[in-house]
Amino acid sequence: MTTRDSFSGRFGIIAAAAGSAIGLGNIWRFPYMCGQNGGGIFLLVYIACILIMGRPIMLAEFIIGRRAQSNAYRAFKILSPGKPWHLIGVLGIVTAFVILSFYSAVGGWTIEYIFRSVTATISSQPKEQFESFIGTSYQPLWYQFFFLCLSLGIVMMGVKKGIEKSTRILMPLLFILLIVLCIRSVTLPGASEGLMFLLKPDFSKLTGNSVLQAMGQAFFTLSLGMGCLITYGSYIKRNEDLAFTTSMTTGSDTLIAILASVVIFPAAAAFHIEPDSGPGLLFITLPGMFQQMPGGMIFSTCFFILVGIAALTSAISLLEVVVSFCVEEMHLRRGLATALVAVCVFMMGILCSLSLGLVPELKLFGMSIFDLMDFTSSTLFLPIGGFFISIYVGWILKKHITVREVIGNGAPKPIYLRIFFFLIRYIAPASILAVFISGLFRSS
Ligand code: PHE
Repeated sequence: MTTRDSFSGRFGIIAAAAGSAIGLGNIWRFPYMCGQNGGGIFLLVYIACILIMGRPIMLAEFIIGRRAQSNAYRAFKILSPGKPWHLIGVLGIVTAFVILSFYSAVGGWTIEYIFRSVTATISSQPKEQFESFIGTSYQPLWYQFFFLCLSLGIVMMGVKKGIEKSTRILMPLLFILLIVLCIRSVTLPGASEGLMFLLKPDFSKLTGNSVLQAMGQAFFTLSLGMGCLITYGSYIKRNEDLAFTTSMTTGSDTLIAILASVVIFPAAAAFHIEPDSGPGLLFITLPGMFQQMPGGMIFSTCFFILVGIAALTSAISLLEVVVSFCVEEMHLRRGLATALVAVCVFMMGILCSLSLGLVPELKLFGMSIFDLMDFTSSTLFLPIGGFFISIYVGWILKKHITVREVIGNGAPKPIYLRIFFFLIRYIAPASILAVFISGLFRSS
């Protein structure tokens, strides 16, 4: 048995978990989903999903990982030998692949925008520029490749050095920059309409489908339901307080998503960009704002670099799920495993990228391959994984879990744990089922 690498200290774990959670999901995906699903009402449902499903399931994943000291697949084999629970781990590995294929495409767009900011080649017609970049060239593929190579390099270096270092300094910087951009955005003429769109829930926009999307987004943004945080939990030392780590991670993740939206919607309103513009929303809204700011290109460069790094730290956590499986279960060398995984992801990623532009025929079930990958992974697989994780911890593991095991050396919070077990046993799985039923079977 090899000894497992572990995160150094409390801040290291939170930085790593937040590094996985905070990424394109917060800055790119949340605002565009929110824009397509009615604004304020989506924000409200999303926060509810974070509280009643996201938080308890995150804690559940940490508990499983730390208890089993292993990757998601083996964790279930160790804790429940001879039972099929390890299929959750298998589903997680498939999901990680699927997410990476479209995630790396968007990671690539971010890199393109770093170059555009540095070379000051963002046009005064950001919408047309974005559409022609995505729709008429092979360029996105190069950037996607570059993004994957960067993630690969970091994963090859191993968990502690790679993941922890990059997040410690850069996530706080991203936070500060977002605050500065919020101030700029809300003071633009015409911004208030965008702010109202985000903050005033319009209950008539509430549909089964939008609740389904909000639930998927809650899982996606917190990196839940696919064993990613089970693997991370295995790197957390026994004396650390998992409840505290969970609160800090979910709190900072939600805050970043809200800040990103407070930047994007007022700016979109000021520049007459429809909030339901879809996946390009971030890339067509912000360039307009940067052009109107003194030192705009410097802000733009810093912003896209920080978003790129946030995307990298999340992509790394996705790669890590698959790589640790290949290394620990298939006994491949780490370098080889990482390279193999990246090549497979890139091949799927090419299909995703091309389906948005050059080869629009790449469609299945009426959706582009890009949308299909996004939908199946985030809206279906992650909540399905989360459902079984909550059943597993709430009904199978519960009788063995002690308070000390959850809180380590932290102060005991009996109420917190009682609420946790209530949510994880009943509320989280029942809500996931209810949302599936209302979103999938009633929307058509
Ligand atoms: N949470 C990441 C983000 O918001 C994406 C992710 C999903 C990472 C699932 C790992 C697992 O960008």
